[in-house]
Order: sequence, then structure tokens, then C-alpha cells
Amino acid sequence: MRQPALTSTSSFQALESHAADAKNWQMRQLFADDAQRFPKLTVDAAGLFLDYSKNRLDATTIGLLLDLARERGVERQRDAMLSGEKINLTEHRAVLHTALRMPRGKALTVDGQDIAHDVHAVLDQIKAFTDRVRSGAWLGHTGKPITDVVNIGIGGSDLGPKMAVLALRSYAHPRLKMHFVSNVDGHDMDAALAQVHPETTLFIIASKTFVTAETMLNAGTARNWFLQSAKEEDLARHFVAVSTNTEAVKAFGIDPANMFPFWDWVGGRYSVWSAIGLAVALAVGFGYFSDFLGGAHAMDEHFREAPLEQNMPVLLAMVGFWNRQFLNAGSLSIAPYHQDLSRFPAYLQQLDMESNGKRVTRGGAEVDTPTCPVVWGECGTNAQHAYFQLLHQGTDVTPIDFIAALRATHDLAGHHDSLLANCFAQSEAFMTGKTAAEVRADLTAQKLSETEIDELVPHKTFPGNRPSNTILMDQLTPSTLGALIALYEHKTFVQGVIWDVNSFDQWGVELGKVLAKNIHAELTGDIKPERHDSSTNGLIIMAKAAQHI
Ligand code: F6P
Repeated sequence: MRQPALTSTSSFQALESHAADAKNWQMRQLFADDAQRFPKLTVDAAGLFLDYSKNRLDATTIGLLLDLARERGVERQRDAMLSGEKINLTEHRAVLHTALRMPRGKALTVDGQDIAHDVHAVLDQIKAFTDRVRSGAWLGHTGKPITDVVNIGIGGSDLGPKMAVLALRSYAHPRLKMHFVSNVDGHDMDAALAQVHPETTLFIIASKTFVTAETMLNAGTARNWFLQSAKEEDLARHFVAVSTNTEAVKAFGIDPANMFPFWDWVGGRYSVWSAIGLAVALAVGFGYFSDFLGGAHAMDEHFREAPLEQNMPVLLAMVGFWNRQFLNAGSLSIAPYHQDLSRFPAYLQQLDMESNGKRVTRGGAEVDTPTCPVVWGECGTNAQHAYFQLLHQGTDVTPIDFIAALRATHDLAGHHDSLLANCFAQSEAFMTGKTAAEVRADLTAQKLSETEIDELVPHKTFPGNRPSNTILMDQLTPSTLGALIALYEHKTFVQGVIWDVNSFDQWGVELGKVLAKNIHAELTGDIKPERHDSSTNGLIIMAKAAQHI
């Protein structure tokens, strides 16, 4: 159904006039005025807890935001997605990553096919294979068990497995060392190959399409490296593929018996739940991989069933929309206070920005509001000592999502309280700031002269009133990790519905791929680089000259 322009909707206009008042609100005051603000503006679901009270909004704002969600059809479109309607309009595809984590025994039929059955058949294949590799029953071509796994893939075929393997490090198999090669830059492959041995290494070639240039080049390099010390017939014990493209997998030389399939209704950035998660299942074992799927499924059920007022992904999305639209927040910083989530910001960059980094609506019209903010971040407390200065005192307002586990998965004394103290202190500092009067009082107590105090006050004042969410879990486990990823997937979906963009295509990555092919031909052949602008021609000439030295 064609949506009216966002700014023309009555609920958007109601929010706009509300925002004119709200932009003058001080969060300090909102907390002082309402002792119940924390219980009112927090929600629990699927093992996660979301505190969105440190945002410049109140219960009326939330009510108006949910009116907008209803007017834009969030519930209707959610149900359309979950039931397998082809909501990815430009690619005529259903969007069913949620089906990948449905428990065994549930059915979901799409185009006459029971896809839930197909999903579990592949899960059985993953279980059988990962059990053999982990137990040491799967042997390399000289009879030794596998010790190293190299996942070759890029984008969704790399970021999800890599992030999850790191996040679940405490659950990993002690013998299997996981490596990830994604970049076409040979330094990436070179560094991985330097750490592994052909007799004991398993390569996973992970590519939905099996035509992605980087992955195909890396896969070919790995194959050549392997064949320097082994025979063609040994490939079957060392190369497996995860793809939707059986013909291309066969053409590469991988036995289809060693191929783990998935389907076109799984988007690349939503694919860690599919066989693309093979590296995760190898690292943590099928039992924990099932828990990971189970955590995501629990969040799916919450998203499907909870009223919007208590629906965690909807609330996270609408608060994010409020900050983007009415605080003009052009970026969102992700701050995991958990070192094992170090790749989570990178994972969310693809999830959010490849999904909602769009400037036309599903009907093809220009959007009339800003869409996806830039997503970036780094683990706390490291981030505090790098760029938090700007977040506290810079000229832009950048909302932050703090993510932490209440209990550590290590047993080193003294660290976790210190970590959590920093996490909570930062969200407090962003909210309260420090007024000039408070700074002056501090400096007076330190017995500084009036002149020094006058000079220092502007530098030491913090404006505060800067928004953040805090997402807590008891511990980072396969299940809570699954729920956390699903939370952000659904948040991304809801924001896409509000902006009326197609969150499931990614045409914006195509132009560069085509141009790179042309330039590659010029760099490696005799064609003179004179078809481009003078900058591009000049850069190509420099590279050609350097390579011929
Ligand atoms: O170029 C972008 C993209 O298509 C992503 O959406 C995807 O995750 C990545 O490339 C890798 O694609 P594939 O799994 O087909 O190699």
C-alpha cells in the first residue's frame, strides 16, 4: 500500500508541535519531577532490559510516537513480514530471517513450500557436520583432526559470524581456532594463511550469491595455497561452501555434499541465523547455536505479541526516530561495555545503514525527512579515552546505546564492578552534565583565584541533556546475544516502516562494484586510463607506475 509522505501525516504533525516544546526540556528536571520515571520508561523482554528514560521525552511523547507507528502500519507490516509476504518489493522477495529461528515442529508455508521443514533439514546437516569436526571424527587429508577454520566471506557473510564467534568466545571449542578473511586486500588472507597449516585447516566459503568479487578472489587464493601441498581430491576434506547458488559452488570445485544451502528470502545482513552461521556452530557447538537461535526467537515472539507500549524493538526504534528527527541527531554511537562485543558496532553498521541508508520511499518518491543516522562505536571503557570528549562537550548531540551484562563471563576479581561503574557514570554524565554554577562551586572549594575560575568555568562546563539508552542482560550468553541481535533487527525494520523505505535491498553498493571492474581492467591491461575525470585517471596512472618499479 502506498504511504502518504511522512510529514503530511496527522501523527507526525502532532509530534512536530509537541517537539517544539520538548526541545526546551531538561532531562535533569524530568527526573526531578517524576520519581517513577525509571520504572515508567523501562521494559523487559527475552532476557534483555531496556532503559530509555535518559532521553528528552516523556510519556506523552511516547504516546505520540506510538500513534505514528500505528498510522504508518507498523503492526500490519510486521505481520506481513512474519507471514512471508514479499515485502522486499524491488527484489520481489519475502523477508524471513525470523523463520530461521523457529522451533522445530512449527510450519510456515511460502509459495507452497514448507520452509520451516527446509530450515530444520539444513540445521540437521549443520549439526551432523559440526559434531564431526568438533569431536575430531572429521579428518584432514593426512588423517589429522581440524584445528583451524577460515571463514571466507564479506558483508553479511562475514560480519555476523565474526561478531558472534568473538562474542561467544567463552563457549568456544578449545581445539578450534577461528579465522575470518573478508577483505580483497591480500594482507588479510596473507595474515590468516600465516597462522594455519593445510593439513589441519577447514575453509568455509560463505557467499549467498557465490559471485561476490572479494570472496571469489580470496577463495581462489585459498584453494591455490592448499593445492601447493595437496591434491584436487583432498579438497573435499578441507573446503565447504555456504550459499544459495549450487551451480557456482560446483563450478568452484566444491562437492555439493559439502554445501550448506540457504534461500533468497534471507538477506545477507540477516543471515547469521542461516548456514552462514556455520562458523559460529563450529566454534560453540550445535547446542549453543540452538540457544542463540532460541534467544532470537524469544525476541521475535515478543515483537509479534507485545502491545506497542511494551514492545522493546518498537520503543527502541521510535526513541531513535525521535532523536533523529527532532534532535537532528545525524549519528548513533554504540557503546558495548563488554569487550566480547567488540565487533557489535561494526555488525550494526551493516544491519542499520545498509537497510535504512535510503533516500527514496518504497513507491520511489524522495523521502521528506532524514533517514538512517550514521552508526558507529567502540567498546567502553576504551571509547571514553578516545572520543567521548566530543560526545560530552562537542557541538553535535549524539545519542548513545550503552550495552552491558550485569555479570561477567570471566572470574577475574575487581574488573566487572569497575566496568559497570563506568558505564552507568557515563549515561549519568551525559544526562546531567555539569552547570557553570556547579563548576564554579568546585573550583572555589579548591581555592582557585576568581580570575582562574572565570577562565576555567566555560571549559569545565558540560551541557548535559544528551540522550542515551541502556540495554542490560544478566550475562552475555548465546541466548542473550541472539535476543540482542534480533532486537536491533526489528528496530531497523520498524524505522524502515516509519520512513517507508525498503529496508531489504542495497542497490547503493552496486555502482562502485561496476566501476572497480573497469578500473581493474585498466590497472592490469594495456587500456590507457583516459576515460575518467583527471583525478581518477591520475590515480590509476600513479598505481600503474608504482607497480612497474
Ligand atoms: O555488496 C553488499 C552485499 O551484497 C551485502 O549485502 C552482502 O552481505 C555482501 O555483499 C556479501 O554478499 P554474498 O554473501 O553474496 O557474497
